[in-house]
Amino acid sequence: MLISGICGSLRNESWNKILLKIFLDKISQNSDFKTDIIDVSKFPLYNADIEAKGLPESVLSAKDQVANSNLIIFASPSYNSSISGVMKNIVDWISRPPKVIEGKNTLVIGATPGMSGTLLGYTHLNHILLSLGMNVLNQPRLLVAKIDKQMEPNGKIISEELSKLFDNSVNQLIKKLNN
Ligand SMILES: Cc1cc2nc3c(=O)[nH]c(=O)nc-3n(C[C@H](O)[C@H](O)[C@H](O)COP(=O)(O)O)c2cc1C
Repeated sequence: MLISGICGSLRNESWNKILLKIFLDKISQNSDFKTDIIDVSKFPLYNADIEAKGLPESVLSAKDQVANSNLIIFASPSYNSSISGVMKNIVDWISRPPKVIEGKNTLVIGATPGMSGTLLGYTHLNHILLSLGMNVLNQPRLLVAKIDKQMEPNGKIISEELSKLFDNSVNQLIKKLNN
């Protein structure tokens, strides 16, 4: 089984990238599942004129990886009480024909240094993914507020609470996928 991650932040030191990488690493260390991160950094802004000339190479390659995955984990930052424009752009490109995401398992995770967390963006993205026919997992909920107080930029977890949340999320997901 292959689990692939997609991050909705292009920032080099993105907390969501770090969250996604640690989560995927812990999953592969604790199961037989293989994990991978899909490179979406070269996606252009969606434009039907570009699409009319054929899907860009970066999009084709990401869609291939999505098609070959059993579960897609989206790590989505919280922007203005929703998802980032980058995240929406990624989903828009991937949703274009040929269809690769219909019926596919998906899970949304997210992190913010903000106090209010990423729940609003999480529900917005789940709604979009559901409407695309994806099988949205509503557990585990790896949604992290005040990430900068709980993790160092090098990925070292410094809060007991976050450490437990990671362990529970990893165990819950592996159990669910093995059932
Ligand atoms: C345009 C914009 C809007 C933002 N809106 C929110 C928000 O509504 N809630 C929140 O918690 N953080 C918000 N932030 C802060 C981001 O969560 C923060 O920059 C975070 O580090 C972005 O994710 P990343 O580290 O993965 O790049 C916003 C940041 C930007 C640039």
